[in-house]
Parts: sequence; C-alpha cells; structure tokens
Amino acid sequence: EHCKGINGLDKVVLREVRGCSAEVYLYGGQVTSWKNVHGEELLFVSSKANFKPPNAIRGGIPICFPQFSNLGPLEQHGFVRNRLWSIDNDPPPFATTSTNKAFVDLILKHSEEDFKIWPYRCEFRLRVTLGPGGDLMLTSRIRNMSADGKPFSFTFAYHTYFAVTDISEVRVEGLETLDYLDNLKNRERFTEQGDAIVFESEMDRIYLGTPTKIAILDHERKRTFVLRKDGLPDAVVWNPWDKKAKAMTDFGDEEYKHMLCVEAACIEKPITLKPGEEWRGRQEISTVPSSYFSGQ
Ligand code: BG6
Repeated sequence: EHCKGINGLDKVVLREVRGCSAEVYLYGGQVTSWKNVHGEELLFVSSKANFKPPNAIRGGIPICFPQFSNLGPLEQHGFVRNRLWSIDNDPPPFATTSTNKAFVDLILKHSEEDFKIWPYRCEFRLRVTLGPGGDLMLTSRIRNMSADGKPFSFTFAYHTYFAVTDISEVRVEGLETLDYLDNLKNRERFTEQGDAIVFESEMDRIYLGTPTKIAILDHERKRTFVLRKDGLPDAVVWNPWDKKAKAMTDFGDEEYKHMLCVEAACIEKPITLKPGEEWRGRQEISTVPSSYFSGQ
C-alpha cells in the first residue's frame, strides 16, 4: 500500500495477515515503523524527528552508505539516508523467493548531482520484507555500474533504532569477548571482557567480526530482539545517553532511556566492487519472549 506519510512524504505500508506491519519512507529508503501482532511499535523514532528533507529521519532504520560515520570525506553516514528513493517495479530476480511475504523493492540510482560528491557509477537496490511471523528483513544489493573500469569502496550500516522500555534494564548478548573500536576514545581498540553488554553511560562502539546472531534483551518487557545478519561482519552499539541527547536538536532529552541502536555493519574492512560486481548485505530482525532465548 502506497500512501502519504508525515509532511506529505511518500511511504509504503507492508501488512502481514496476523496484523504485523512495517512502514518504509521513500525518503531515505528508511523503515520508520515495525509493529507486532499486538500493534506495539518495536522501533524507536524520536518525537522530535524531522521528516523534512534534507534532514535525516531520527529513528527507524536509516541506511549508512557509502560511508559509515565520519570515517572519510563524505558527510556523516553518507548520503543515501537523505535521498529520495523510487519504487523498483522491475527488480532482477532474487535467489530467495518471497512467496507469502509482504515486500517492497526500492532503488536509488546515483544521480549526476551526487556524482560530483562521489564520482562513481552505482545502483542501490533495497528489498524490505515482512515475513509471515512478523520478522523484518532488509536486503541491500549494491552494484558498480561503471563503464570505464573504475572500482569503488564503501562502508555500510543498517542503523537500527530498537525501542526498549528502560535502557538500564537492557542487555546485549553475542558480542562477549570480541574486539571493538571505541568511538568515544578515538577509535582505540579494546577487547570485551566476557559479560553481556549493559548500559550505564554513553556508548558508541564498533564490534568487529561478530557472530551472525545478536540478541537484545528487554528485561522489563520480557522481550528479546534477535538480529541476524549476512555479509555484514561488524556491529555498532550506540546510545547517546543524557548529555549527547540534549545536544541533538532532533532527539528528546529523555528519549535515550527508550532506545538502543544495534547496527549490522561493514566498517573495519571496506567492501570494494569492480565494474559489474554486486554486493549483498542482509539484516533480519525478529522478536521472541526473553525466556525462550536465554533460557532464563
Ligand atoms: C552511530 C555512530 O552509528 O550514529 C555515532 O556510531 C553517531 O557516533 C550516531 O553519533 C548518530 O549519528 P547521526 O549522524 O544520525 O546523528
């Protein structure tokens, strides 16, 4: 279902028979809502989010491409999160079938205008699928369309804002004992000491070479988010905490208590695509009752 969203921006609503739903804005190719069968919102979007180009929308699942963060010459997190994507009515076939699933295919072709800031030929296809169990899958296919033999490199992240009840009661499992780069300490490299990650202050880390499955346990709500990823070796964990929250104009002062970003990403080793080559990166998120996942 294609309709108008906030400020008249185009969006697509995906619905699943049991009542789950998801919303995708063409602006940013950005998922801004993911609801379970009870109609509960599972993603965080700030009450102060700006749904007005050229601002990025604060919340949901912005896509960082072709540059994560400020790790290069481009604007923070690249530019696709504030471009207008199109519906791709003629996507090339996917290996996996999408029968019984609600999905939408979007495409962003690199414009002549953007060629001036990133001089490559690139086509970005995004499929957003809502599965029969309410799981949400994002598959990106990025292709080098160059005719002159020029490769390009990029970093990438699905900047997912999960909605949580109380950040101080949340833990993340699956990143224990891994190395990470700490964005709050000049990206110095540290090793996680073995316990699940808990939150007592600002956190901004890039975990390297993580398992394909990460769990985010919302103790208060007895709900666990399970994030599965493919082609995306790293994972960013970010919560701005109080001071940074206050400094962000599109984020409420207290909202840090109710969100956590865990981002399937490819950052440490950028991907390089030769002309004609395609890269795929997939993130799937689902929920299970907490007891089911951790055996508690
Ligand atoms: C995270 C980064 O992924 O995104 C943080 O690790 C950054 O350093 C955050 O502050 C938000 O970025 P932005 O550009 O959306 O404010």
